[in-house]
This record gives sequence, structure tokens and C-alpha cells, in this order.
Amino acid sequence: MIWKNIPKLSNFVDPEFAHNLAILFLKLGVYPKIKNENLPVKVKNLLFNNPIGLAAGFDKNALIIKEISDLGFGFSEIGTVTPLPQYGNRKPRIFRLKEDKAIINRNGFNNEGMIKIKERLKKYKNNVTRNKSFLIGINIGPNKNSLDRIEDYKLLAYELGSYADYITINVSSPNTVGLRRLQSIKFLKHVINSVNDGLLQNNCNLLKKPVFIKISPDIETNLMSNIIKLCINENISGLIISNTTINRPRTLKSDKKKEIGGLSGSPLFSKSTELLIEANRMKKKFKANIFLIATGGVLDGFSAYVKILSGAHLIQLYTSLAYKGPIISKSILNELKTYLVRDNIKNLDKIRGIANSFEEAILIAKKGF
Ligand SMILES: Cc1cc2nc3c(=O)[nH]c(=O)nc-3n(C[C@H](O)[C@H](O)[C@H](O)COP(=O)(O)O)c2cc1C
Repeated sequence: MIWKNIPKLSNFVDPEFAHNLAILFLKLGVYPKIKNENLPVKVKNLLFNNPIGLAAGFDKNALIIKEISDLGFGFSEIGTVTPLPQYGNRKPRIFRLKEDKAIINRNGFNNEGMIKIKERLKKYKNNVTRNKSFLIGINIGPNKNSLDRIEDYKLLAYELGSYADYITINVSSPNTVGLRRLQSIKFLKHVINSVNDGLLQNNCNLLKKPVFIKISPDIETNLMSNIIKLCINENISGLIISNTTINRPRTLKSDKKKEIGGLSGSPLFSKSTELLIEANRMKKKFKANIFLIATGGVLDGFSAYVKILSGAHLIQLYTSLAYKGPIISKSILNELKTYLVRDNIKNLDKIRGIANSFEEAILIAKKGF
């Protein structure tokens, strides 16, 4: 009942307040306990119970790891975490575009900083009753006023590496001025080396600890071939495609569409999936042994199926949880299974990335094989 009303509440109160309220209810245990749906996916040395994960930004401070696991997600990405605590941009900084099933945010990496978050992660990992098959990614990024952003990545990898099943290098948030420049191959190489140095100091390295790079949907498509080559050469496990977009599709209806920030949700679906298709194409071309995590506009089994047909091993969501509430992962998994039964698919490997274009992926998802 409460959960039905939280999305409605967001029409009247600040969406960030509604988000914090949702976290409070989760912490208080006011949520449906959902049986973990099994649809195992192996990504490098990690076995995910199911491919649906919570995207970065929802549980920035590692407050609700157990609760997200109870909601039937297969994994959660904590962060973005910065070395020092950071307030972020001035409020209001989250806007709901209800008519468009979308959100615009310009948070600017508000988080409690790596030391406090590390303590929470330590406590969680030491809890013997935790669900061990629920995996944790940690998404890292630099402080806004850092004098050495590359060094920040090293610090974060060093401090947080041992608590993460995988690390995500965030170089794609539109809300930290200049961050997206780190997506150029030259800078990206420095960032990766820095993360590896941090992991090595912790007796780990990129071969043992999967590291992903989260990219922007606004990059030039032709940059993709170089990014994939970089992943191969630097032992990066894969890409998360994608972060939010600064573009505003003409189709947007909401009067909030002019707010500055990153757009997520339904209007991001086609753009992020087109980029996923391109990454998958390059992956095949270079025979790269890398993994693709899809995020952007996943709101039901259909959109999840399209992402898998376009090359996704794993899927993350944020906006649809804000609109549809805590049963979202269960309902996506159930719907996805219905598509798999319809198409007589017993193993996701058989159909992953078989679509050569966004249109083809949509067609297969609609009509089957
Ligand atoms: C309010 C909000 C905050 C976010 N914060 C982060 C963040 O801190 N780090 C990050 O990498 N992505 C962040 N994201 C982006 C999401 O992780 C995801 O990539 C994006 O929203 C697309 O997925 P969706 O369409 O399912 O929401 C945020 C998104 C929203 C809506």
C-alpha cells in the first residue's frame, strides 16, 4: 500500500525526498519479501543468480544492500562513491518527467565518501546470514574539486576493491564538469592504470577483480571500436552501457524537459540500446572476450529481452524502480521467462547479441524467432 503511494507522492513532494522516504521504508523492513527468481548468468568468475541489477545512484551510500537483495534483484551497484564526502549540487536536483516515464537528475555525486561507505560494506560482508549469491558492484568517481582526479580512482580502488565483486569506473556522469573528457582513450588509459595500481596495492589486479567502464550514451559511435580495443589491451572485463543522456528527444512531453542534467528512463531506451548494438558489433569484430551490462530505459520483460538480444549479459535499472516500485525485478524476470518459453530458449547464450540492429531486436522480441 505504502509502495503504491510513493510514486504518487512524488507528484506533490520533491522526488529526492520521496527517494529518501523509500530508503527509510526499506530500512524499516516495510517491503514485500520476494522469492529470488533464478536465471543464472556467469560473467567472468562471477555467478549472478539472475541478470537484473540495481543501477548506480539509487543506493549511493550502501544503506540498503540486504533490502535490495530481498526484493529479488541479482546484484546492486553502490555509488557513485568519491574519496571525500560530497554534498552535490543545490536542491532541487531530481525531476520526474511523469508523462515520459523519465527522470532528469543533476545530483553531482552526492555521497558520504569512501571511508563511511567502506565501513558499511565491511559490516555487510561480515554478516554471516547475508545472501552470498547477491553480488555487489562499486561504482567509483572523483571528487568535484579534486586536484588529481586520476589519483582519486586509485585511492577508491585501493580502499573499496576488497568489498566489491566488481568495480565500475564512472567516467560518464554529465553532472561533474569535465568528467566525460576522461572517456577519451588517452585519459581512459591513465584512469585504468590508476585503478589497477590501487587494486595491486590491495593484492588484487584487473585479472582477478572484474572492472567495468560505464560510458555515456552521448559519445560518438565511432569511438566504440577504440574503447573495445582498449578493454582488450588493458584487461577490462566490459562496459556498462549507458549512463544518462544530456540530449532531449523531441518526443518529450513533460514541462520539466528543460531542466539541466542527465535524462534516464523510457526516452533513453533506444539511444542506449543502439550503442549496445554497436559495442556488441565491435566485440564480435575484434573477438573480444568482454561482457556488456545494459542500462537505460528497462521497464519490463520486453525491454529486458531487447537488451539481451542486443548483447547484454546483465541488465541494470533505476528509473523504472522509481515509477513501478519494489516488485519491478520480480515482474521483469517473470515476463522475461515468458518470452524465453515462447521462443523455446533454454540458454541465454544462444540468443545473446544475435540482433544486428535495434529494429531487429525489437522485431524478434515482438514476434519471436
Ligand atoms: C537520480 C539518479 C541518480 C543517478 N546517479 C548515478 C550515479 O551516481 N552514478 C552513475 O554511474 N549513474 C547514476 N545514475 C544513472 C543510472 O545508474 C543509470 O545508468 C541510468 O539512470 C539509466 O538507467 P534507467 O533508465 O533504468 O534509469 C543515476 C540515475 C538517476 C535517475
